[in-house]
Amino acid sequence: MNGVQKQRLLTQPIRIGGVEIAGRFVKAAYTETMCTEDGFVTDQLIQHYEELARGGTPLLITGATYFNKYSQAMKRGLALDHDDKIPGLQRLTRTVQQYGSKIFVQLYHVGRQAAPGNVGRTDAQAPSARYEFTVGCMPRAMTIEEIHDCVYQFGLAAARAKQAGFDGIELHAAHGYLISSFLTPHTNRRTDQYGGSFENRLRFLVEVYRAMREQVGRDFPIVIKLNGHDDLPLRKGLNTEDCVRIALRMQKEGIDGVEVSCGHYESGITSDRGNWKGFFRTMVTYGAAKDWPASHRAVIRLLSPLLSWFYNRISGFRPAFNLSYAQAFKQALDIPVICVGGFAEVALIDEALESGGCDLVAAARPVIADPHLFNHLKAGVRGPQCDFCQGCFARAGAMPADCYNPRVRAEKALMLRAEQGTDLVSRPVNAGWQSCANEIRPTKTSPRNNDERQYEG
Ligand SMILES: Cc1cc2nc3c(=O)[nH]c(=O)nc-3n(C[C@H](O)[C@H](O)[C@H](O)COP(=O)(O)O)c2cc1C
Ligand code: SF4
Repeated sequence: MNGVQKQRLLTQPIRIGGVEIAGRFVKAAYTETMCTEDGFVTDQLIQHYEELARGGTPLLITGATYFNKYSQAMKRGLALDHDDKIPGLQRLTRTVQQYGSKIFVQLYHVGRQAAPGNVGRTDAQAPSARYEFTVGCMPRAMTIEEIHDCVYQFGLAAARAKQAGFDGIELHAAHGYLISSFLTPHTNRRTDQYGGSFENRLRFLVEVYRAMREQVGRDFPIVIKLNGHDDLPLRKGLNTEDCVRIALRMQKEGIDGVEVSCGHYESGITSDRGNWKGFFRTMVTYGAAKDWPASHRAVIRLLSPLLSWFYNRISGFRPAFNLSYAQAFKQALDIPVICVGGFAEVALIDEALESGGCDLVAAARPVIADPHLFNHLKAGVRGPQCDFCQGCFARAGAMPADCYNPRVRAEKALMLRAEQGTDLVSRPVNAGWQSCANEIRPTKTSPRNNDERQYEG
């Protein structure tokens, strides 16, 4: 070693397209549910992102942002549907950037994975009319004209994103939403130029990407969130080889990076592996399903223990659960590979980076629990640690993104109080939090939050 200490990759800068990111850690996209009903930025949203930036997070990716009525899933999400959204978003981007963080907006179209009634629609768009049983949605197959219009509107939204001061865009092509459902043979049964062969199923993604690129120019980063596996056994889902092939093709098109995730809703939401105990009861009581028909909610309540048991079997928590997929992408691609899913611990994050399994690590629930996670990782300090209890996920789309696990939430409140009003740049990182941390002793019963009442209410 010659007495020279090796620098941790975590804190090394990396370029995504033309933009330098100050470290290898990303706040992954999560629906914030903090905008006005019609998608305008609020003070609450700005404060949420400011805290993440104060916590040193090198790259922030916003929650899924819609751009027209069919792309929207829930109320109070971010929108880029009109120019009138730009001033609020400029306030957001400037706030974050003054801390040295970069911010990308995630653009998406929900497709068939939302109850249209959630946002006052009567129908949903999809490549084919295939029933989505987890949300009870029977979508319409898009006409060619609708596909062209949608491509055009993705492009317009990208232009607005650049005007709003974002440092880049993440295009959501994972999790079974519209673009992902075009890629997957199980959900795309078209017989025209948008279905059938690999190239045909890819066509919609390529057209959307080109429309966006045309609007923002070559130097503006566009990364894509892709599945590393569709997790659709017994159905015509994509395996890792198919997914890497899509990424390779998109690298040729000019994308600047890829974030690797997995699954559709129909897979049992493997994208969000965690502890599902209490999830379904919480979702119909406090979450996006609270407005579903009473009979539907009653059935879910009744079946809740069975559903939780089943989801824990197929989608129970595993650390770094997409890393093996990311490794396959990393071996094939030259552009940066971001891996998301199940990263809360410092050793795991360092190992994923140092082993070359991915170039950046992204986290959603762990930064909801600890918005200063990056600074804590850097300093080797244990901050509030996410339990993957799904309390926040069960409330997504109905309540603001926050930690609803009482023990972790208390730790978070203490940590934020200690940090309040302090200047992270000019003082030793987390000095205040370290002294508070000594007051908190995790109890033997707390780690997995097995009692749903702990986070209900
Ligand atoms: C409350 C919540 C909302 C989410 N919303 C989005 C979203 O808008 N877009 C997206 O790509 N993923 C979304 N996700 C998935 C995360 O980006 C991420 O892929 C997943 O949570 C696994 O990462 P984690 O283990 O670090 O939480 C959401 C997750 C949570 C918990
Ligand atoms: S509620 Fe808190 S502890 Fe539970 S998954 Fe969300 S952030 Fe993690």
